[in-house]
Amino acid sequence: MRNKIFVARIIPDAGLQLLRQQFDVDVWQEFLPPNREAILSRVKGVVGLLSLLSDRIDAEVMDAAGPQLRGIANFAVGYNNIDVAAAVERGIAVGNTPDVLTDATADTAVGLVLAAARHFQASILQVRSLQWKTWEPMGLLGHDLNGKTLGIVGMGRIGAAVARKLVGGWGMRVVYTSRSPKPEIDHEFNTTQVSMDDLLAQSDVISLHTDLNEQTKHMIGDREFALMKPNAILVNTARGGVIDQVALYKALKSKSIFAAGLDVTDPEPLPNDSPLRELENCTILPHIGSATVEARDRMSVMAAQNLIAASAGQPIPFSVRRVLDPIANQIGQRFNAKFSHGSGSP
Ligand code: DGY
Repeated sequence: MRNKIFVARIIPDAGLQLLRQQFDVDVWQEFLPPNREAILSRVKGVVGLLSLLSDRIDAEVMDAAGPQLRGIANFAVGYNNIDVAAAVERGIAVGNTPDVLTDATADTAVGLVLAAARHFQASILQVRSLQWKTWEPMGLLGHDLNGKTLGIVGMGRIGAAVARKLVGGWGMRVVYTSRSPKPEIDHEFNTTQVSMDDLLAQSDVISLHTDLNEQTKHMIGDREFALMKPNAILVNTARGGVIDQVALYKALKSKSIFAAGLDVTDPEPLPNDSPLRELENCTILPHIGSATVEARDRMSVMAAQNLIAASAGQPIPFSVRRVLDPIANQIGQRFNAKFSHGSGSP
């Protein structure tokens, strides 16, 4: 009998076919994600779980699956929806899909920068609502990007890709924050790391690329908005929870900053009555950062490879543990030692 896995949504065939060669694959067929009850019941007896960023995968889900669960493959680069410590404690490998969506997500960030800088949202609304009456010499005036300062918060792969596109296309000057020194980035962009406060005060465009965790939750709030320039544009393609949305609304409504572009919100989807929906200087996309045919195909293959390796008790090729904080990393190393001695089971 073949091992069973649960795939929490229909994903591209490239990955599904790989999975079907190895496993008895149960795919959630609905348009909306499985609710809690459905996840808890469908994971029973699986060796692997392919989850999406909208699925909360915690100790309860892992225990509901049972002790044979060996791997969780998140169909995303971010994995804040997974309790990694609980997985590590149970000897369950956790994988993600880094790199293959870097350009797609960076393109989305650049698109939001342009949309925010040039009033695309208000302009499209004007046309659709039949309010386009004339060519306005003083209407819908945005801001040039050429030569302006770009602040990257979290200079990882996606942050660096955004910087490359905006430096190459618009000659922007880069400042950034990062958890670790990045001499190669300093060299590439002829810059150095700055403090968060300096970045906020200097930047014309601020693009967020940090993980969501206890340290970064609401890292952009009233105090941070007060430090930004009046012409500042804030773009978020990371996770909605990084911004305090009440503070964002106040900053946009009072025009203490110029505009925002969000591919992510908290929660998702944004509630129908969220006042952010009403603001002309806030462009909101429904979390489409990685939504290209090519990126999603590659993500599906990586997630499949993660589950195939995990179920065989082998180290998974795209493990989240390489980016964990030092304490979790120590636990991860013990977990890795367990795998490298061939056990792989909890
Ligand atoms: C991810 O993969 O974490 C991104 O949010 C996709 O846009």
